Amino acid sequence: AKPNAVRIIEVGARDGLQNEKKSIPVATKIELIERLAKTGLKDIEAGSFVSPKWVPQMDASDKILEHLLKNPPKAPNPVAYSFLAPNAKGLENALSVLHANPQTDTASKPIELSVFAAATESFSQKNLNCSIADSLLKFREVIKGAKDEGLRVRAYISVVLGCPFEGYDVDPKKVAEIACDLMEMGADEIALGDTTGMGTVPRTAELLKALKAAGLRSEDLAMHFHDTYGQALVNTAVSLESGIRSFDSSVGGLGGCPYSPGATGNVSTEDMVYFMESLGLDTGVDLDAVVDIGDWITKEIGKKNSSSVGKAILGK
Ligand code: HMG
Ligand code: MG
Repeated sequence: AKPNAVRIIEVGARDGLQNEKKSIPVATKIELIERLAKTGLKDIEAGSFVSPKWVPQMDASDKILEHLLKNPPKAPNPVAYSFLAPNAKGLENALSVLHANPQTDTASKPIELSVFAAATESFSQKNLNCSIADSLLKFREVIKGAKDEGLRVRAYISVVLGCPFEGYDVDPKKVAEIACDLMEMGADEIALGDTTGMGTVPRTAELLKALKAAGLRSEDLAMHFHDTYGQALVNTAVSLESGIRSFDSSVGGLGGCPYSPGATGNVSTEDMVYFMESLGLDTGVDLDAVVDIGDWITKEIGKKNSSSVGKAILGK
C-alpha cells in the first residue's frame, strides 16, 4: 500500500440496513452494493448470516452472496465482500452458497467472513444470547472453518468504548484480552466497535494504548465508529495518530445495532472520505459518486441523509 493510503470499509449494506423495520427488497440491496463497488471502495460488507428471527432484514444474505459470486465486480477495482457469521450455522449457510457458486473470477478478491464478540457480558447476552466465553468457543470454530476454506476473517469486538447496559464501565484490558484471543484463533483483523458512539478522545487513546501494550499492531486493527454523539471523526483522528489505517463507515450514515437501544448509524462514508482527503490521505474513493449513492439510498428507504458532507455537496 502507498504510504498515505487508508482503507475504508463500507458497512452500509449490513450495519446500515440491518436495523430497518420495513423489509427492503433484495434488488435494492444488490443495487446498493453494486453501485458502491464502482466508487473505488475495495472492502464492502454485504450481509449477515445470522438468525432471521433475530434480524429479519438480513434474511436474504444468501441470495446476495450468490448474486455477488455470479456477478463479480469488474477489474481494475477488485472488491472484497464480507458477511457476518457468528456461529457454526452461519458458517455452514455461507459456505453452502460458496460451494454451490465457486469463485472462479481470479480478478476478484475472495469473500470474507466476520465474527462479532462483545466487550461486556450484558451486551454479549443481548446480541448473541451467550456469555463472552461461550461466544469465543463458537468463534474458534467459525474462524477455523473459514480459514480452512482460505477465507480472510475479521473479528469485531462491540461496545469497546461504552455499553448501552454497563455505561462507560468497559475495561480496555478486557478488550485487549478478547482481541488477543481472537488473533490467536486466526482472525486477520480486529474491528473495534464503538457501538453506542460513546467514545471520546481520551478513552479512544487509552484503549489503543492498552491494545498496543498487549501486543496488537496498528495493522491488526480497524476502527468502527458509530456517530451517535458526533465524536466519530475526532476519534478517527486519534486512531490515525496512533497508526491505524483501516476505518469502517456507512454511506449516508445509515445504521444502528438492533441490540443497542438508541444507537444511530456509523460515521458516514462521505464524511470519512472528505476527512481523509483533507489530511492528504488517499482513500481511492470517488467522493461525488458516494454522495449520489447516499442521496439515492436514503430516499429509497425513507431515511434522512445523516451525512454532513453529503448534504453540503448536494445542497450546492
Ligand atoms: P440462539 O437463539 O441462541 O441460537 O441465537 P440457537 O443456536 O439456540 O438457535 C436457535 C434457532 O436459530 C435455531 O432455529 C437455529 O437453527 C437458528 P430453530 O431450530 O429454532 O428453527 N439459528 C440460525 N439461523 C440462521 N443463521 C444462523 C443461526 N444460528 C442459529 N447463524 C444467534 C444465537 C447468534 C444465532 C442469535 O443471537 C443471532 O442471530 N444474533 C444476531 C445478532 C446480530 O445480528 N446483531 C447485529 C450484528 S452485530 C452489530 O451490529 C455490531 C457491529 O456492527 C459492531 C459494532 O457496532 O459494535 C458488528
Ligand atoms: Mg456497528
